[in-house]
Amino acid sequence: MKVLVTGGAGYIGSHTCLELLRQGHDVVVADNLYNAKPEALKRVRELSKHEFPFYEIDIRDEAALDEVFAAHDFDCVIHFAGLKAVGESVSLPLKYYDNNLGSTITLCRVMKNHKVKRIIFSSSATVYRPGVPMPADESSELGCSSPYGWTKFMCEQILRDIVVAYPDWSVVLLRYFNPIGADPSGRIGEDPTGIPNNLLPFVTQTALGRHEYLRIFGNDYATHDGTGVRDYIHVADLADGHAAALQFAMDHTGCEAINLGTGIGYSVLDIVKTFEEVNGVKVPYVISPRRPGDVDAVYAKPDKAKKLLSWEAKRNLEDMCRDSWNWQSKNPQGYQES
Ligand code: NAD
Ligand code: WQD
Repeated sequence: MKVLVTGGAGYIGSHTCLELLRQGHDVVVADNLYNAKPEALKRVRELSKHEFPFYEIDIRDEAALDEVFAAHDFDCVIHFAGLKAVGESVSLPLKYYDNNLGSTITLCRVMKNHKVKRIIFSSSATVYRPGVPMPADESSELGCSSPYGWTKFMCEQILRDIVVAYPDWSVVLLRYFNPIGADPSGRIGEDPTGIPNNLLPFVTQTALGRHEYLRIFGNDYATHDGTGVRDYIHVADLADGHAAALQFAMDHTGCEAINLGTGIGYSVLDIVKTFEEVNGVKVPYVISPRRPGDVDAVYAKPDKAKKLLSWEAKRNLEDMCRDSWNWQSKNPQGYQES
């Protein structure tokens, strides 16, 4: 298949491009490099031993996007492009609504003009209303606690409405839980700018000595050890999930929301202990107050993905911790040194 990957230079996008190329698909990447480095794509080419076109464009730039569609005959689009910093979205909501909704609407309009009818959208577990009973399945109640979350919720709705109007379209809304890890080669991985908000990049940078200690946000949650529980999923499993969703989109019309998670919840302390054990490094930590907005536990019911996509996560927590450290220790400054 020939696939347009928006946001393909980013963390999940680069791993998905690699997997698609390994499976023999043709890939075209469009990314404005707002949160990515071209080096990531260079390394995807090196690992896959395949060339592919890259367009440095903003997806909201309709004329530029139109030229990409005019130059290629796409079977499907995988739409990763978006801003994802939950905290920043609270202080800069317009930036998030503009980028995430604007890119999705422009993309769908150009797809319509060029008769491309399949799209796989990067949604998130954050669309589930905080406090819904766990595990969350696709029919759990929706509702968000940040502008970022609402952009995902609204894009899902836009895509659902498109399928009502154009029943020959195929839309797959993939709701990721907590992606971590990296390709086992250590050549591509997560490269956050500034001080990371997410747990794993902070853990790896603390192990490197870049931070004195990790702050564990709360140890009085209703979980097995009091620290927050999440459904961490290896980014390579997510990449496999996208390849499976591509096949599904080729064979079906309509709209499906599908969780991509392992179904297993691990606590912050589980992560720290496993990370230290598998990598033989220390992660000093202190217990700090709860982070506003956090909930006790978030984990998926992953059955629908197994049923519809014949996909389930294969990598375990040891793999995730080992591959995260392998990437970070081989690339202490991320892609910057290259
Ligand atoms: P990322 O920031 O690494 O990748 C997103 C890419 O999109 C970046 O390369 C960025 O430069 C590009 N981009 C952003 N706006 C663009 C625009 N207007 N035009 C062109 N390119 C643009 O993030 P990621 O972790 O790889 O996430 C990919 C997608 O998955 C995002 O939509 C994100 O919201 C979603 N998601 C991520 C997580 C997570 O924890 N990483 C969880 C759930 C959902
Ligand atoms: C995980 C756990 C923290 C940092 C976010 C988004 C969500 C999705 C994934 C995009 C929690 C604890 C963290 C630290 C800590 N992204 N923690 N010390 O909050 O589950 O989800 O990323 O869609 O929308 O909200 O992920 O990695 O920030 O936190 O103790 O320095 O680690 O309290 O229990 P979260 P996270």
